[in-house]
Amino acid sequence: MRKMGILLLTMLFVFGVVGCGGAGKAEENPAPSKEEQKANSSQSKILVAYFSVTGHTKALAETTAKALGADIYEIRPEKPYTSNDLNYNDETTRATVEQKNNQARPALADKNANIGAYETVIIAHPIWWGQEPRIIDTFVESYVFTGKNITNICTSGGSDIGTTTESLQKLTKGKANWKQGKLFTPQSSESEIKTWFSGLGI
Ligand SMILES: Cc1cc2nc3c(=O)[nH]c(=O)nc-3n(C[C@H](O)[C@H](O)[C@H](O)COP(=O)(O)O)c2cc1C
Repeated sequence: MRKMGILLLTMLFVFGVVGCGGAGKAEENPAPSKEEQKANSSQSKILVAYFSVTGHTKALAETTAKALGADIYEIRPEKPYTSNDLNYNDETTRATVEQKNNQARPALADKNANIGAYETVIIAHPIWWGQEPRIIDTFVESYVFTGKNITNICTSGGSDIGTTTESLQKLTKGKANWKQGKLFTPQSSESEIKTWFSGLGI
């Protein structure tokens, strides 16, 4: 009887210690919930924010996001551009009027880019009249980029990137680490893009 009692006490002690050890570990380092796992897996440290009307820059932004494992965000104007708005043969149309006025700031459809969550922000845009579209100026002025790596990539009908990086840098709020951007094409490959960004340390 006495032996049975000792055996029972020993078993209780052993299982008690193992059980408590397991519970302690779980409390110190709880398993992530399904929601946390999902957020962590989709949350990159790089964001590609793009504006595109006819799809060229969108293609470049998507290849860039794939090449760098980045998240992607579309910069959308509150009032979408119509094909007439983009007619650069008519100087009275919307895009041309905006580009001639460097104070023009077309409104954004939203301000949900969550810039604070990223270490690096890549802004992708077309070249309009040799410059970044004014909606890109609105985007840059709408967020604080303190401490971020930031650059711009673009597509065009033949012009180079021009002074767009410098212009955007001047509009940036907070002390950001700007890097000279680059013109690509909608067909630029993942490996070309990856190589260029690794040269920037991204
Ligand atoms: C209003 C307007 C102005 C443009 N100005 C230029 C320009 O100065 N130089 C150039 O090479 N391409 C110019 N383009 C062509 C675009 O940069 C080019 O088609 C770009 O790839 C379009 O990008 P998206 O398809 O992402 O909108 C202009 C296009 C528009 C609509």
